[in-house]
Amino acid sequence: MRYPSQATIIEVGPRDGLQNEAVHVPTDAKVRFVDMLSDAGLPVVEVTSFVHPKAVPRMADAHEVLRAIRQKPGVRYPVLVPNSRGLERALAAGAREIALFTAATESFTRANINRTIDQSIDDARAVIQAARPHGARIRAYVSTAFACPFEGPVPPEQVAGICARLLDAGAEQIGLGDTIGAATPADVSRLLDRVLGLAPLDGWGMHFHDTRGTALANVVRSLDYGIAVFDSAAGGLGGCPFAGPNATGNLATEDLVYLLDGLGVETGVSLPRVMDATRFICARLDHAPTSKVFQAGGRLVPKPLATA
Ligand code: HMG
Ligand code: MG
Repeated sequence: MRYPSQATIIEVGPRDGLQNEAVHVPTDAKVRFVDMLSDAGLPVVEVTSFVHPKAVPRMADAHEVLRAIRQKPGVRYPVLVPNSRGLERALAAGAREIALFTAATESFTRANINRTIDQSIDDARAVIQAARPHGARIRAYVSTAFACPFEGPVPPEQVAGICARLLDAGAEQIGLGDTIGAATPADVSRLLDRVLGLAPLDGWGMHFHDTRGTALANVVRSLDYGIAVFDSAAGGLGGCPFAGPNATGNLATEDLVYLLDGLGVETGVSLPRVMDATRFICARLDHAPTSKVFQAGGRLVPKPLATA
């Protein structure tokens, strides 16, 4: 078969989606959003982030959200953690899976977490060592894996070096982040050709933002390589507050599910139920969803031509 028979979608709407919204979303609405997403069949829902509440005020209720969601058996609920303090807070709230993050460029790492790359990898190592005794699963994002808002295109060699160090520190999976949605399939090939030898295939996931409309094309190219883990956000919400004003939404979950369904790649996700979750959360925001599939009303339902 040309593509993997199954793929795992990591839903990041409650975290990447809501972290940069202008409108305050009440805690109970965030909780309902997470519950609707897990009810839609999403196997992994990134719930929130334990970053500094002054840096990202929209995630200030991380503890309350994680405590209040209904944890569905079989569904994983990772949370974003920048450092040891974040880990302590996450564990105190009951987290069993964490996602660390650093970046492939110094400028973005500085803007995002006020660290050099070396410092961020030291922090990652400390967090992984402290998380292990708690049995927590550990994923690590490498942001600006294709392009940096401050430094431009990023050489695959530079990204590979960061990935190797995170894997050495004990990260179980690397999420390659196209933080500002600049990559094309040619960039995906160049990067995957360079990094895939560093870890088994299931040690990689792709985190595409859809700023320039290339995310789905990038997913298809990643599938060609056998990658079967993709991040997306319901409604196409999202963006990193520290990546500049043009860093817009994640690849929309609806668009990803529609694509994978059409390619015969099993996800276990219900498209209509993801759309329900999008409708629910966007009613509490100040803008409409960007998902093409949502805008089209979902799957095609033919309406016979009326005859006079
Ligand atoms: P800092 O100011 O350098 O922190 O911020 P510090 O270590 O110097 O500590 C200063 C104070 O903050 C101390 O308190 C710490 O305890 C406290 P004091 O002793 O002064 O009272 N502190 C914390 N408090 C709560 N939670 C914490 C925490 N850490 C320290 N975790 C820091 C460094 C990383 C905390 C800050 O820069 C930060 O929170 N940044 C947020 C970055 C962020 O959330 N970015 C968006 C997510 S990343 C993303 O979207 C990209 C991704 O989607 C992938 C992609 O698209 O590429 C993942
Ligand atoms: Mg992101």
